[in-house]
Amino acid sequence: MRIIRNALWIILLATISFAQGTKRIAIGPYLQNMSSESVTICWSTLSGESRITGPDGKSFQVPAFQQHQIRLARLQPKTTYQYDVLGDGSAEGKGSFTTFPRKIEPFRFAVLGDTRSRHKIHQKIVNMIIKQKPMFVVNTGDLVGNGDVIQEWQTFFQINHELMRNTPYFSVLGNHEKDSKNYYNFFDLPGNEHYYEHYYFFSVGDALFIVLDSEGPEHQTPEYLKGSDREAFWEKIDLGYLEKEKAWVENVLTLNDKAGFIFVFFHKPLFSVKRSRVAETKKRRKFWGDIFERHHVQVILNGHDHHYHHAFSGGTHYVTTAGGGAGPV
Ligand SMILES: [Fe+2]
Repeated sequence: MRIIRNALWIILLATISFAQGTKRIAIGPYLQNMSSESVTICWSTLSGESRITGPDGKSFQVPAFQQHQIRLARLQPKTTYQYDVLGDGSAEGKGSFTTFPRKIEPFRFAVLGDTRSRHKIHQKIVNMIIKQKPMFVVNTGDLVGNGDVIQEWQTFFQINHELMRNTPYFSVLGNHEKDSKNYYNFFDLPGNEHYYEHYYFFSVGDALFIVLDSEGPEHQTPEYLKGSDREAFWEKIDLGYLEKEKAWVENVLTLNDKAGFIFVFFHKPLFSVKRSRVAETKKRRKFWGDIFERHHVQVILNGHDHHYHHAFSGGTHYVTTAGGGAGPV
C-alpha cells in the first residue's frame, strides 16, 4: 500500500514539475516594426537566474533573457495573419496581426506615455486601449522606471501582454529608459544612418510618423563638476547628437513633403504648464526653431509631464499625453 502511495506521489510531483517546465515563453510574443508588407514578432525565453548578495546577507535574483525575433516580409497589405511562434499549437505562442493598409483610408492609433509606475493604472489604460482596437500604439517614453532594471521590463511586458501580442507597439526613448541596452534588446524599431533604433520614421497610407529622441546617450556625471559647471556640462554634452538628429529630421521632412499628415513624437515637450519646466521648454523651442512649423507638421505628441495638455501654435498642435501611470510629481 505504502509503495503504491509513494508511487502516486512521485507521479504527481513529476506531473507538477513537467507542467511548470512546459511554459516556454517568459516574455511576449509581441509585435514590432509593422508596415504594409512586413512585421517583426519578438519573444523572450528565460536563459538563467543569477543570485546577488549584499554585505548584509540579503540576496535577490536577477533573470537573464534570451531574445528571439522573426522578421516577416512580402506580406499582403491590410491582411490579418495568425501566428504561433512555438509552432506547437499551445496558446502561449499564438497571436495575430493585421498589416498596415497601403491605400489612403481612415484609421485609429493610440498614444500614451510615462507608464513607468502605478502599474494598476497602466493596466487599466492598456485594457481600455485593447477595447478601442487601434491599428498601432505609440508610447511617448518613460516606459519603465529604470531601463537598466530588467525586472521592470518584465512588469511592463506582463501588463501589455494581451495588447502587444496582437497590436504593433512603437516606442519613444524617455529619460527613464537611461539609454539602456535592455531597451534596444527588447524592441525592434526602424533606424537611421547614425543611430539604429534611437530615432526613426514609418508611414501608414499618406500619414508620416516621425519618432525622435530628446534624450541622447546616457552619460555619467563627472563627480568633480559642481554648480554652474555641472549645468554647462549637461547643456553641451548632447549637442552634437541633437544637431545630427535635427539635420536628419530636416532631410526626412523635406523628402516627405507629399505626406498628407505628419505626426512627430518625442519625450520632453516643447510647451509645459509645469512651472519648474517652463525655462527648459524655452531652450528646447530655441533649439528646434521653426523646423516643424515650416514643414507643416500637424501634431507633435510628447510625454514627461504626467498629464494631458494641448497647445496650438503656428499651425501645429502640441499634445502632451503622459498619464500612463506615473504619479503626479
Ligand atoms: Fe520623463
